[in-house]
Parts: sequence; structure tokens; C-alpha cells
Amino acid sequence: MKDTYIKDTINQINKEVTLFGWVNNRRDHGKLIFIDFKDSTGVIQCVITPHMGESYDIAKNIKDEYVCKLKGLVKERPEKMQTSDSITGKIEFEVQDIEILNEAVLNPFDVYSDGKEISEELRLKKRYLDLKRPRLHENLKQRFLISNFIRQYLEKQNFVEIETPYLTKTTPEGARDFLVPSRLSKGMFYGLPQSPQQYKQLLMISQFEKYFQLTRCFRDEDPRGDRQPEFTQLDLEMSFASQEQIMSLIENMLKELVEAYYPDKKIQAFPFPRIEYKDAMEKYSSDKPDLRKDKNNPNELAFAFIINFPMFEWHEKQYNKEAHYTAVHNPFTKINFEKDLTQDEKIDQIFNNTDNLKAFQYDLVLNGYELGGGALREINSTILQKVFEKLGNSKEHFENQFAHYIEAFSYGVPPHGGIALGFDRLIMLLQNEPNIREVIAFPKTGDNRDLMMDSPSIASEDQLKELNINKIK
Ligand code: AMO
Repeated sequence: MKDTYIKDTINQINKEVTLFGWVNNRRDHGKLIFIDFKDSTGVIQCVITPHMGESYDIAKNIKDEYVCKLKGLVKERPEKMQTSDSITGKIEFEVQDIEILNEAVLNPFDVYSDGKEISEELRLKKRYLDLKRPRLHENLKQRFLISNFIRQYLEKQNFVEIETPYLTKTTPEGARDFLVPSRLSKGMFYGLPQSPQQYKQLLMISQFEKYFQLTRCFRDEDPRGDRQPEFTQLDLEMSFASQEQIMSLIENMLKELVEAYYPDKKIQAFPFPRIEYKDAMEKYSSDKPDLRKDKNNPNELAFAFIINFPMFEWHEKQYNKEAHYTAVHNPFTKINFEKDLTQDEKIDQIFNNTDNLKAFQYDLVLNGYELGGGALREINSTILQKVFEKLGNSKEHFENQFAHYIEAFSYGVPPHGGIALGFDRLIMLLQNEPNIREVIAFPKTGDNRDLMMDSPSIASEDQLKELNINKIK
């Protein structure tokens, strides 16, 4: 099998090697045939002369994207033929034997251009070809390197990465849930997690103290440039941490990340500015202001934390939905009462001073995008229940939905808080991409479809029967 990659050939001058890869292009120069041959690590110029016999004949008919095995000799190019535009610019490969491993039809669109000129529908339909694009290779490689960096950084800070279930019960976090029917519990459904919010808080009760996870989250909302129905979060939670400690962990990690992987980029202000939600709204009319001084400069990173969000938000009656309060971040957030109050006084504030209550919530913004959101959590289950009540949930509903949670809260729950960063958004912004689809290998379209797999698709009658599901005609 393959043991020599094209990038390694520069150290193998005058050696015989075997290369596996694809034909990038072929040029006939009189009797000489040149093939640019590529693999995932680079491109090398190959030369085939007529005295190679059968291999020469094969080379004459070879086409772009054919998969081949080439045996030959790595040679230094004559000095005046050397170029410096690629790692193999000083060498060429003298082919002695060609074996075609697989033929290929022509790509239906240019896969080596920038790609922005091709309709996205076509690109996504044949994403496996679209992903040949060097720009997308670069994006996905950077994504991998950054996830690696984050894991190592957090390991050094004594965090533990813990996987939490995808088949779970839904958490009330604003968006619609994706439901998965259960075969064994007929008529019942799992929910795919909008985030691992409850699990990570329960892990604090399990005394892990510092948890993180690079994890997929699922939200059934209308996609946009910075939104996908499934996306990745860097999710973390810490016990006994202050809001300031959590923010500073994140800003230090991002600073080191940018220094290590994006040395050309400049963080506009460090420590990241902390901006009151009220001030952001007054000054920029946005809770995710774009604070770049020069918005045309692709290397400027204007991070900021927006703090002191309101706890509750009033929604007017809309369509068939009654007017109601929602939690600006999520119902688990700790209210910042700003002074010491008894439990009864706090409950009174929840019901009678609702609109003025602030939360220990902090959002991280970058260049006009919401990159992350986090909060300290309420650990008093009576207060939590009152928050849910204010959001329109009866005591019974709360106890029903959160029985496990309320019970867990009686076993020594530490004060805790956390944050989650949108990992796709982070990569998008660092890679200067206009949307997160460019940094996700197989994204969905604007109407949440996977054009390549043709999903969602209908289930067979047998499958539905097994799940006890009747289709409404
Ligand atoms: P939140 O809902 O603010 O917080 O989500 C955190 C971050 O996730 C990213 N994000 C998305 N990215 C792509 N597509 C989406 N549909 C999408 N939705 C959200 C954003 C956002 O800032 N559990 C809490 C975190 C916590 O309190 O610790 C949470 O999920 O960048």
C-alpha cells in the first residue's frame, strides 16, 4: 500500500518510489508527456518518455481525475526549470510504470476554483466533489487543528471532556426540538439535545468541577448563514467559578489560539471589553455589535463580552401564541438580584419586578456575530420552580418535566456556571468565510435538506408500523 506521499518526495531525490493519487492534468509536449499528479499532500510534475513502451501508451489516454499508481524515479529538475511556487517545484518524477486503478468522468463543475461562482445547490448536491476544493480542504483542516488546540488547552486547565447523549429528553431552550420516535416505548419520543445544558449541570453534582465537550447540538429552526439545524458547540461548565473567571478562561484561550494559528490576525482589544447589555442597545441598537474599527480589514478581531442581560423578556401575542414571558438566555440562569435578599423577597421580585431583573448572563460577540453565550446557574430549586412558573409552566408540569433535576439538586449542588461557543461560527470568522456552510463538511440547505443524501426522505410503511406511527393524510 501507499507509503510515500507527494510532500515527502523532495527528500527522495534519485530514489525509486511508488506514488498513489490522481491525475491533475496531462500535457503532451511533442513526444514527452507531462502529468501533474496529486494526492492530499501536494502535486508533482511527472514526465513520461516514449521509450517507456506500454506505460507511454497508457499515459497518452489518461484523463483528469484518473486514479493511478505510478512507479518511477524522483529527480532534481535542471536548474533553469526549477520553480518556487510549490513544495515540489525543484523536482520531477520520471515515470517508469503506470497502472490505472480507476477511471473517472469529468467533474460537472470546476472543483479547483474558489467555488463562489457556482450555484450552491449544485455544490451541495455533489458535495463530495465540491469538497475537493483547496479552500474547503483548508477550512476543514484548520477546524481539526483548532479542535485539537482547544482540547489540549482545556486538558492543561484540568477540564475533562465527557460525552453526553444525543437521544435524550428535550430541554426548554427556545428553539423547536427534533423528535425521534421510540420503537420500544411505543408512542414515546426522544428529543435531540439543543445543547447538553442539563447534563453538564448534573455533571457538576457528580463532582467533575470542570467539564467540556465539543458536541453536536440540534435545533429545528430556520437556517441562516450562521445557523444550521445541527451545529457544533464548544460547551463547558465549571463549579465554584465566578462570571469573571469563566470569561477570562475563554478570552485567554482564544488569544492563545489566534496567536498560534492566525498570527496575521489582530485582536482589537485585550482583555475583551465588557459591555453592559443596556449600553450596547443604547449605543449600537444591537446585543451583538460589530466593534471593528475598520470593517474592510479581514484580519481584525473585535471580541467583546455583553453582560448584565435582562432575565426575562415579554413577547406580545403572536398568531396563535398568547402573550408570555421567556427567559432571555435559559430558565436555569441565576438572577442577579444585585443585593442580598431572602428567598421570599426573591420570589416577590420574580413576580412583581419581572421586567427589571438582570441575569448573570454573558454573551461573547465577535465582529457582529454572537459567538457564544453562557451564564451562572440558579441552584435553589424553589427559585428555579418560580422562574418556570413565571414562564407559564404549572408546578405540576415543572415537577413532571424536571423531577430528576429537582431531586439531584438536593445532593450537594455546587454553585456553577458555564458557556458555549458556536464552534462553526468561530471557524467561519477565523477563516474569513461568509457563512458556516463553508466550514462544515456536509451542511444542510436553507430549507434544512441534505441535497446529496436526499434527506429528509419518506419512511417505509413497515418502519412506521414498527414505530406505531400513523401518517395524517
Ligand atoms: P446558546 O443557545 O446561546 O447557549 O448557544 C451557544 C452558541 O451556539 C451557537 N449557535 C449556533 N450555531 C450554529 N447554528 C445554530 N443553529 C446555532 N444556535 C446557537 C451560537 C451561540 O452563541 N446551553 C447554552 C450555553 C450555556 O448557557 O452554557 C447554549 O446553548 O454561537
